[in-house]
Amino acid sequence: MSIKSKTAKNICVIGAGHVGLVAAACFAHLGHKVICVDNNKKRINGLKKGIMPFYEPGLEKLVINGCKKEKLSFSFSISGSVKCSDLIFIAVGTPPMPDGSVDLIAVENVVKIIANNLNDYKLIVSKSTVPVNTGKRLLKIIENNKKGKNSFDVASNPEFLREGKAIFDFFHPDRLIFGVGSQKAANLLHEVYSKIKTEKIVTDINTAEMIKYASNSFLAMKVSYINAISCLSDKLGADIKKIAHAIGADKRIGFDFLNAGIGYGGFCFPKDVQAFHYTAKKLGYDFRLLDEVQKINKNQPKLFVKRIEERLGTLKGKNFSVCGLSFKPNTSDIRFSPAIKVINLLLAKKAAVYVYDPQAIDNSKKILIGNVTYCKKPYLKSDIDCLCVLTEWAEFEKIDFKKLKKQIPGLLVADGRNTLNREKIISNGFGYIGIGR
Ligand code: UGA
Repeated sequence: MSIKSKTAKNICVIGAGHVGLVAAACFAHLGHKVICVDNNKKRINGLKKGIMPFYEPGLEKLVINGCKKEKLSFSFSISGSVKCSDLIFIAVGTPPMPDGSVDLIAVENVVKIIANNLNDYKLIVSKSTVPVNTGKRLLKIIENNKKGKNSFDVASNPEFLREGKAIFDFFHPDRLIFGVGSQKAANLLHEVYSKIKTEKIVTDINTAEMIKYASNSFLAMKVSYINAISCLSDKLGADIKKIAHAIGADKRIGFDFLNAGIGYGGFCFPKDVQAFHYTAKKLGYDFRLLDEVQKINKNQPKLFVKRIEERLGTLKGKNFSVCGLSFKPNTSDIRFSPAIKVINLLLAKKAAVYVYDPQAIDNSKKILIGNVTYCKKPYLKSDIDCLCVLTEWAEFEKIDFKKLKKQIPGLLVADGRNTLNREKIISNGFGYIGIGR
């Protein structure tokens, strides 16, 4: 998938996090000449040696190939990188503030440095998730800080990559959003993405910024909706998997994001729903639907632990084998992970946990406090009272319950992601708790 040189651009991507690094490696693969900049020296030095700062399937290969072909390089210097680029993509963090607003300091600082280094026309594109009106604010910051008369445009090109599937999503998006203020900016973005065959939706900047929040909030709402139905399902003895399949079969609803579980996590849904709610409030609209989405999500880990406690009588002194720490499979990311919330609830009730995750152990060591033992594989010894699956890594489906029957008879299996074969577990004489089934 390499593009003809007439559409190849010099691109600077600022921020080597999940969005920035993936975008940089993928742009390089498309044939653009890309410099990826980050102020984290350790991260950049590692990347120069081919060491990835986080786990993302396929990324390492793409980065190493990009560097070998001299299409991709890494730097700490924003100023030097800006000067030799036609387009600058901003992909720095926009963390949540305690009041629900978004911390834009990193984006604003970057934009000031860009303004100081405009040596020619540049298109400055925000890939970071930023509240509506930020593009317009950035435009003013650049106007106020730029030296000389060079022209520029600001654009919004929100990212819809999922962690764990980010490379696939970059090359096969359902749509691309170009939020622009000029035809020149739209044309440049069309050229950059010319090899990606999908609908390209051109909007104004505010609309593009809003699309990102509206999309993530809608998906979070779908997850909370099915989780609310799962609570009723538990009470009625219905099967949430069958319900989700049947309602998803209606094309107007669709199958995706209807897996009931211990809730949504990660660094996007929780913060974006909160920020969208905050923006609405500032505009005088009380978006109570999003309040409820968050409330349902917050409650899921608690309900799950409560059901386990009801079965075991007490959690004090009980041993748990926990499978899964990351907020979803195929990532080492534990930010706002519902698995961590469940573990903390277990620890607060004086349980002992033996945790395993294929990728997220190191990150978890930094935050879990208490009676935690880290394991190199699922802890399946005779002293455990409950096996808890909290992230649906494919390898957990391979746990051999027939074999386990002799080792740990009477074990309780709590499946927080409805990912295990319930029938097999029950037929081997184990207790089973799912979500809404
Ligand atoms: C999400 C969006 O899906 C991406 O389109 C977007 O680009 C990204 O946020 C972002 O804003 O950067 P991501 O956070 O990687 O991507 O994860 P998802 O796959 O969307 O899952 C989010 C959470 O919802 C996970 O905790 C997952 O376990 C949970 N989930 C998802 C469910 O509980 N049930 C489902 O049916 C689907």
